Amino acid sequence: MTKVLIATDKPFAPVAVKGIREIVEKQGYALALLEKYTSKEELIGAVADADAMIVRSDKITREVIEAAKRLKVIVRAGAGYDNIDLDACTARDVVAMNTPGQNANAVAELALGLMVYMARNFYNGKSGRELKGKKLGVHAYGNVGQNVGRVARGFGMEVYAFDPYMTDEQIKLAGAIPLHSVNELYSTCQYVSLHIPATAETKRSINYDLLKQMPEDAVLVNTARKEVIDEEGLARLMEERPDFAYITDIAPDSAAFSKFEGRYYATPKKMGAQTEEANVNAGLAAARQIVSFIEKGDKRFKVN
Ligand code: 3PG
Repeated sequence: MTKVLIATDKPFAPVAVKGIREIVEKQGYALALLEKYTSKEELIGAVADADAMIVRSDKITREVIEAAKRLKVIVRAGAGYDNIDLDACTARDVVAMNTPGQNANAVAELALGLMVYMARNFYNGKSGRELKGKKLGVHAYGNVGQNVGRVARGFGMEVYAFDPYMTDEQIKLAGAIPLHSVNELYSTCQYVSLHIPATAETKRSINYDLLKQMPEDAVLVNTARKEVIDEEGLARLMEERPDFAYITDIAPDSAAFSKFEGRYYATPKKMGAQTEEANVNAGLAAARQIVSFIEKGDKRFKVN
């Protein structure tokens, strides 16, 4: 019997697991569930007899892939797949997929929520600021970036975007004012929201020289990945510029940020995609993609 394993350190909402189970069992497959596991060994034990897997930000290393002797397909229920060793998948003939766009609205709502939280002094009762009329730069205008743009326009923000993979026309059609370099984006916008993936090229690319161009009362919002930030450079800039704020959904490795009280905030756990709706959208899409791949060889959304 085909076995589908959901392996999520950060569990889906129960309603999403129920929906995935229905799709999997209707197809005559079995579903196994490994949630909140505490060791790599637990994950390695669970993958041994899985034909297909659904994961989130779980670290799927070569060791995990090699232990999954029957694995044919792994779906990252979400956008970024930097947590999966794609070379190891390819070497073992395992198809890796993501579910682009499915959790984009949830992440966008959190990004704007973080901006309001910071602008209103963490709801501490003191007089704050408004988002209306402020310039927001969206760094990478894909699924999440476009949703951020849509919600931000609702707040009355002026939305700019830089995306090297889109034409001006495409950016305009998707509701933002196109800018043509990262320097232009960061020097124009008081708020910048990051939506770039973590790749060899982007890691540590959000650095001191780029960030120092941001206008007065700058706010950097990170709901993407901590790896894209040059933490040393950002901390140095925040030392030099008391007007610079950083809000993030992915806590930095460096302890240096905790001293920037009132202009630094990190969620306790990455929660951009942590809504029932996003879990249902991404989880069910993952289950459907697995069925379609196993039954029909459908490789749409393959990333390796
Ligand atoms: C993504 O890449 O889809 C987001 O970062 C969400 O990640 P999560 O599934 O671990 O919450």
